Amino acid sequence: MGYGEAYGRYVGMIEETLEKLLGEQQQECPCDGGIPAHLCETMRYSLLAGGKRVRPVLLLAACEMLGGDMAQALVPAAALEMIHTYSLIHDDLPGMDDDDYRRGRLTNHKVYGVGHAILAGDALLNYAYECMLENATAYPENLTGHVRAACAIATRAGVGGMIAGQSLDLLSEHMPPDADRLLYIHTHKTADLLTAPLLAAAYICGADEEQVAALSRFGYHVGIAFQIDDDLLDVQGDAKEMGKQTGMDAQRGKMTWPSLVGVDGAKARSAAAWDEALDALNIFGERAWFMREFAAKLRARTN
Ligand code: IPE
Ligand code: IPE
Ligand code: MG
Ligand code: MG
Ligand code: MG
Repeated sequence: MGYGEAYGRYVGMIEETLEKLLGEQQQECPCDGGIPAHLCETMRYSLLAGGKRVRPVLLLAACEMLGGDMAQALVPAAALEMIHTYSLIHDDLPGMDDDDYRRGRLTNHKVYGVGHAILAGDALLNYAYECMLENATAYPENLTGHVRAACAIATRAGVGGMIAGQSLDLLSEHMPPDADRLLYIHTHKTADLLTAPLLAAAYICGADEEQVAALSRFGYHVGIAFQIDDDLLDVQGDAKEMGKQTGMDAQRGKMTWPSLVGVDGAKARSAAAWDEALDALNIFGERAWFMREFAAKLRARTN
């Protein structure tokens, strides 16, 4: 199987799982159980709007690379995409980055209002854990693996992870750029959510310590490179292609790698991180072929 087919297969599995989890749940009356229709619509609006599906693809690809049972990884992968989508809905709110476009359409709060956008995010976050825990109970023989996976995701999405990074990102607006502070922001707001799928896959598949360490190192460097590239795309990218506005970081006084070391300096830092990421895959040999190709595609991305 070639790269394109493999990527398409992973994305197909993710879309199908998301559709299963959020498709037939709509209920007119909240008292009947399930997700009330309007809430479900607000969740689906952002979740099923495309997106590169980077995090769930990493989870499924890591699971396959480790020779694990893909069926066990489908719900955790979809749940992680819910958490990522919630982080984007909240990131775009007027009280945060105040953005009007995301994934090629108006942001959630522009369509449904701030209150409902907050709730759509809250709902995606809680539903993600509901789905993961429910899924864990379906595999009693691997309960510890699933609990450790959910814990890895919770830790990296939570108060010492993505939310910590987002908090410092906001606190650092209009401050003079500082390398340590910026690295903390990127490590937590972005790299943590890219390490999460790799660790989750490792725990579900019962990977050994060396594999866990290598996957963690790969995720960290991919995350750092990914956010520097996102900052670069905000300066140099094409808004139509990216599905979100450009030039917003400078407008909001964000601390970014281009603001710290300029565009060329940021490109060099990103290149170094991509190289580190590839180096971390060496222990997997040929089995990491998809990961290598995926990293190369992300490195060359224009959206
Ligand atoms: C956007 O993430 C937020 C960052 C961490 C830069 P993605 O670039 O993965 O966004 P989608 O999921 O493809 O929309
Ligand atoms: C956001 O970083 C990372 C998140 C945790 C959502 P950005 O604020 O740079 O992401 P974009 O550019 O809005 O996608
Ligand atoms: Mg932001
Ligand atoms: Mg933003
Ligand atoms: Mg950005």
